[in-house]
Amino acid sequence: MKISATKSTLRQIRTEATAIFIPEDKNLFDTEISSLKKIFGKSILDLLKSENFHGKENETISFYTHNKLPAKRLYLAGIGKIEKVSLEIIRRAAANVAKHAEILKIKNISYRPLISGIEKNNKLPFEKIAQAIIEGSMLSLYKFDKYLTENKKDRVRIKTITLFDSLDSNIRILKNIIHKTEIICNATYLARDLANAPANEIYPETLAKIATESARKYGYSAVVWDKKRIEKEGFGGLIAVNSGSAKPPCFIILEHNPEISNPDTIVLVGKGITFDSGGISIKPSAGMSEMKMDMSGAAAVIGTMEAAARLRLPIRLIGLIPATENLPSGSAMKPGDIIKHYGGKTSEVDNTDAEGRLILADALVYAQKFDPELIIDIATLTGACVVALGNHATGMMGNDENIMARLKEAGETTYERVWQLPLFEEYEKQIKSDVADVKNVGGRWAGAITAALFLKKFFPKNKDYKWTHLDIAGTAILEEPQTYIPKGASGVGVRLLIEFLKNWKSGDHTRQ
Ligand code: BES
Ligand code: ZN
Ligand code: ZN
Repeated sequence: MKISATKSTLRQIRTEATAIFIPEDKNLFDTEISSLKKIFGKSILDLLKSENFHGKENETISFYTHNKLPAKRLYLAGIGKIEKVSLEIIRRAAANVAKHAEILKIKNISYRPLISGIEKNNKLPFEKIAQAIIEGSMLSLYKFDKYLTENKKDRVRIKTITLFDSLDSNIRILKNIIHKTEIICNATYLARDLANAPANEIYPETLAKIATESARKYGYSAVVWDKKRIEKEGFGGLIAVNSGSAKPPCFIILEHNPEISNPDTIVLVGKGITFDSGGISIKPSAGMSEMKMDMSGAAAVIGTMEAAARLRLPIRLIGLIPATENLPSGSAMKPGDIIKHYGGKTSEVDNTDAEGRLILADALVYAQKFDPELIIDIATLTGACVVALGNHATGMMGNDENIMARLKEAGETTYERVWQLPLFEEYEKQIKSDVADVKNVGGRWAGAITAALFLKKFFPKNKDYKWTHLDIAGTAILEEPQTYIPKGASGVGVRLLIEFLKNWKSGDHTRQ
């Protein structure tokens, strides 16, 4: 798929199909329609009537232009009241057009990012609107079809997406934002591909290989520890979870270093369980296949590292991924086992299905070695988070309100929304163990919170590292498609983290 910008107008643009956005407000709607009337004549009014098109959100119509325009088909995408138009409304409108055009086997589409009345009535900058169009169209056209061998020939894919405007200054803006947005969307594609891939394709070593390839291609570094090194370093959580698997674990260390002096350091930690059967505390078989996506946190970290490096973000970004399968076998860890984690703290395994926190604990302690300004972990950690928030918000917990407010803002902008849950100390007694420093499950209630409190145990009391935990169990794996996210892996986290990191100002967040 190629995205480009070109200087053109609706009357000139030569793509197979072209799309314009129509607000619902009467005066703006009428102005747009009267200029269409000049092209198509009065019949356009009958068409709008018969199609019941009023410019409302999610209304999309298209018609054949009968050579009245160089483009063969024109799309009108409703965006509702101008004052209420948001980036998400534009993403969805652009996605509706792209998906429809693909069904019609159209290969080239274009969009006009200029929306009439937007400057007067809404603060959305032209650049952001263009970004939303690219995101909505690109992300909606994603398919995981590499294993489909039949009827491939009949499948026609959109090959080019063009954004057009009549001003040279806007073309410059468009070219710049297309480049950046393509990087971010391709990184989201990578995260989706990694998570959608079955566990016989993506296991710790292949995950590490893909991360290493991305690092080499885009100029950041990758170091992969093998099982021997992981044992030697004392990553007891990763070794314990791996003990039931025939495939060795990996610990992946990625690093992006910007070309500036004294950048802030941020560490991202992603849960890399390439398949979660539950282990000896085995999961029911219905729906177990979804657990090939239990490395969605790792996928988000790899995607974010790739995009951060390509965008040359001015921060030192470290990505840490503990990777293993969680399987039952004669050598698997068992309920009752006690683990010694990296750094020396111990945990009691009460349920082998609460494995994510065991591998994250090692990585979170290791993350502290970089003396970072911030540590963010991202993980498909608990079913309880899905119960609490469903598919529409990522659970967020942490120890710094300012950081969480910024993540929330990045969530609103990207629509990869996060919602904070509390870490009240009263919950802590649920994970108290009689035989170890902490227990890996906290009973029936507040499961997303007790999981986060388990992780919090691995930060020293006397040194205040800033830390945020993102539980993406509900947002990473979709049973139903959303407008521009197909069923399966959503790639959540990449756009959220890049938006957050892009707004990070080095020096502003120094720890006391
Ligand atoms: N990977 C799962 C969490 C999960 C559930 C992710 C549904 C995505 C969708 C995690 O390892 C797990 O099994 N957690 C247990 C913890 C419990 C045993 C305390 C859970 O949530 O049931
Ligand atoms: Zn599990
Ligand atoms: Zn898991």
